[in-house]
Amino acid sequence: MNSNDGQRHVRPASESDIDYIWAIDSSATKKFGSIPALADLAASEESPEKFESWLNQGRVYLVEERDAPVGFVAAHEVNDVLHINEIGVHEDHQGKGIGALLLQAIFEWGQDIARQNNRDVARVSLTTYADVAWNGPWYKKHGFRKVEGELVGPWHAEEAKQDVQNLARPGYRRCFMLWEKKVVGG
Ligand SMILES: CC(C)(COP(=O)(O)OP(=O)(O)OC[C@H]1O[C@@H](n2cnc3c(N)ncnc32)[C@H](O)[C@@H]1OP(=O)(O)O)[C@@H](O)C(=O)NCCC(=O)NCCS
Repeated sequence: MNSNDGQRHVRPASESDIDYIWAIDSSATKKFGSIPALADLAASEESPEKFESWLNQGRVYLVEERDAPVGFVAAHEVNDVLHINEIGVHEDHQGKGIGALLLQAIFEWGQDIARQNNRDVARVSLTTYADVAWNGPWYKKHGFRKVEGELVGPWHAEEAKQDVQNLARPGYRRCFMLWEKKVVGG
């Protein structure tokens, strides 16, 4: 979890980081502005309550580069599965491996949870756009595969259904994805 290449550092966020998370989220989602059918996502205004709820229900990790927060990932545990609420990297810092570092923090947390609960397999889930280059294909590159939410459990089935209702746009399918890893010492 203490990933560090000398200039980058991953750390858990707290309430005092909400302004940073908010700023990164606003900047990251601008990426969707390049796709007309998804441009409304880039323009949507978020409220601090959303970020507070992420901290209350689970954890948010930040990547700092030269001590400045540049990326975040929020996740929480549901029925033995770590579900990613959101991941975002500031637009000026995308494509440099910061997203990969954030996913690594989540994978490590997921494996810790599995070991603590004596489970053989760590599981991480999320919902995303199936065909947007930096969504479905990017997660696939990091070991996620598309599955039906129903296969994971009732909460995930409902989450997948709500996600489609809220975020599917003409020509842009949503999908549910799962990462699984056998845990040594689980
Ligand atoms: C998804 C996101 C967090 C990835 O963060 P990142 O720091 O850019 O990720 P990385 O640098 O680790 O990996 C980017 C890789 O994606 C792939 N990719 C393909 N098309 C891409 C594109 N148009 N833009 C960016 N990456 C692309 C590349 O393989 C790239 O790797 P490379 O730089 O080695 O070639 C970032 O793009 C982001 O904040 N997007 C907007 C918010 C979002 O979509 N969140 C996910 C919601 S489900």
